[in-house]
Amino acid sequence: MTQPPKTNRLCSLLGIEHPIIQGGMVYNSGAKLAAAVSNAGGLGLIGAGSMRPELLGEQIRKARGLTAKPIGVNLPLLYANSRECLEVALAEGVKIFFTSAGSPKRAIGPLKRAGCVVVHVAASRDLAIKCEDAGCDAVVVEGFEAGGHNGRDEITTMVLVPECVRSVNIPVIAAGGIATGEQIAAAMALGAEAVQIGSRFAITVEGSGHQKFKEAVVEAGAGDTQLVMKAHVPVRLLKNEFRDQVIALEADGAGRQELAELLGTGRARAGMLDGDLVKGELEIGQVAGLIDDVPTVADLMSRLLDQYHNTLKSLCDR
Ligand SMILES: Cc1cc2nc3c(=O)[nH]c(=O)nc-3n(C[C@H](O)[C@H](O)[C@H](O)COP(=O)(O)O)c2cc1C
Repeated sequence: MTQPPKTNRLCSLLGIEHPIIQGGMVYNSGAKLAAAVSNAGGLGLIGAGSMRPELLGEQIRKARGLTAKPIGVNLPLLYANSRECLEVALAEGVKIFFTSAGSPKRAIGPLKRAGCVVVHVAASRDLAIKCEDAGCDAVVVEGFEAGGHNGRDEITTMVLVPECVRSVNIPVIAAGGIATGEQIAAAMALGAEAVQIGSRFAITVEGSGHQKFKEAVVEAGAGDTQLVMKAHVPVRLLKNEFRDQVIALEADGAGRQELAELLGTGRARAGMLDGDLVKGELEIGQVAGLIDDVPTVADLMSRLLDQYHNTLKSLCDR
């Protein structure tokens, strides 16, 4: 039973049918995943964070060949080539940008001048307020449960969403710890106007991660992930030899420099794209404990929507 939801202001702004956004994810969210989510009525984002500008251009054109629906680009602002990526995406006609990992002020000027919708990712109420002040159209608020890079404060989605809903007037998109329709309903009950889902979409047929990475996540429980490297770049990782090394180094009081040296370069690619489950960086959220299969995006979206609408109905009947 898939019922069309009532349109909310975020769906209108983004031109989508369902308030479900697929978060940009390094090495996991290329054209195939983004197009599949958009074709299913959500918003797919191409993750520019792991792409050179030329590859990003290619992926945008590829996605356009796979869907006529809106797609967006996630642009983490911490990389040296983020300005070039922004220019490539603008030249390709992208109109929806989800920026992250940096100040929202860094990219909003050129994006707004080009008539784009700009949404920034925040892990705290203060940053959510800065997003509104900077002129963002909406804000993704990402709790501590989330996969990938995160804030240093350990604020859960359950607390962060209502805190931000009270503090800003722009629409709030809830992220972190959402992998089922019941959880979407919970996020909407807290005042979110949409959800951004990462981990669950990474573990689909269309996710571009390595099959071994997907299988490791299916096997994992909720307690198998941990937020590490707070002194460098905080990131939630699945347990493996590399993560154990990080934890041991942190227990010895290691600082930014030593953690950066251990991390080196290419760990995320090795883990998630090349399937090195031992030495690679395996970014995934606590919802690993709720991920038991590798469905197609179409099947997953229809499952999420059925669960969401059934939950709303059953709550009314209670
Ligand atoms: C493998 C992985 C890679 C990620 N890479 C990025 C990224 O490049 N840029 C970004 O803004 N967020 C990134 N994220 C965060 C997601 O966009 C999303 O906000 C987060 O996954 C939501 O929490 P969830 O994993 O519990 O669904 C990543 C998450 C994962 C799991």
